Amino acid sequence: MKQFREELKGRLRGRISEDKLKSLPSGFQKIGNIIIVNLKPELLQFKKDIGETILDCFRDVKTVCNKFDRVKNQTRTPSIEVIAGDGTETIHTENNCFYKIDVAKLMFAKGNMRERGRLPLLVKPGETVVDMFCGLGYFTIPIAKLAKPKKIYAIDINPFAVDFLKENIKLNLVSCVETILRDCRTVSLPEKADRVIMGYLPRTYEFLPAAFGFLKDSGVIHYHDTFRENELWEKPRKILGEQAQKAGYWLDKIRYKAVVKQFAPRVCHIVIDAKFRRTA
Ligand SMILES: C[S@@+](CC[C@H](N)C(=O)[O-])C[C@H]1O[C@@H](n2cnc3c(N)ncnc32)[C@H](O)[C@@H]1O
Repeated sequence: MKQFREELKGRLRGRISEDKLKSLPSGFQKIGNIIIVNLKPELLQFKKDIGETILDCFRDVKTVCNKFDRVKNQTRTPSIEVIAGDGTETIHTENNCFYKIDVAKLMFAKGNMRERGRLPLLVKPGETVVDMFCGLGYFTIPIAKLAKPKKIYAIDINPFAVDFLKENIKLNLVSCVETILRDCRTVSLPEKADRVIMGYLPRTYEFLPAAFGFLKDSGVIHYHDTFRENELWEKPRKILGEQAQKAGYWLDKIRYKAVVKQFAPRVCHIVIDAKFRRTA
């Protein structure tokens, strides 16, 4: 399709003023057969018409939703309304993995796509992994399906997320995942992990003590968090070093660091793979 906004402008011209046509979205997120757009306030009175028009553009789309606010609260519930079509449940496919999701109840971060591809390549056969904020299995499912871990402990505080993860485990025919519906800070496990994934924002550093509690004497933490551009990479390194020391570890090596996406003006969502060893 030619540029999304241009296509919509062409189709909606005459029904929406030229001035307001300029505010039409330039892009969208497609999750399974659902499209999510972010309409500016001046377009909300036309949302039904815009939704129907988008629906007409794509043969494989059953629902169009408008995201009217950021994800909210600790369980990261999206603020989504249906503006055309019907139904908010779908199955999204990525890298041969299937993710059943209700887009009105759970988020699916577009920005973490590279991470979903990268993590399974790092997990060695036989590893034990803890996914502290597993959601519906954004990282757990690709690791379970594409790597050969011994076990993944997948923890989430949101019952909807754990219910969908259970469905996704069946859908992807994986058997190494144990789901845990709890606040990850209150979980104790029967074994320690080679790798701990911290896919939550912001102030993720508050959960580092719990992450060290899950780790073997030597292991990797995949630490997501938000920092101002001018704090990279000194501040996250300092936080990891200090928290390691408090937990009886030392920061051996930063194996990987990257900006995942822009979180707010001059604030980045970053990820760091850090290797730690227990202090002798
Ligand atoms: C942002 S979502 C997961 C994002 C995901 N990693 C991705 O790639 O899209 C964060 C998840 O953390 C969960 N969560 C928040 N606080 C938690 C806690 N204290 N313990 C366990 N899970 C928690 C939320 O319910 C949510 O499902």
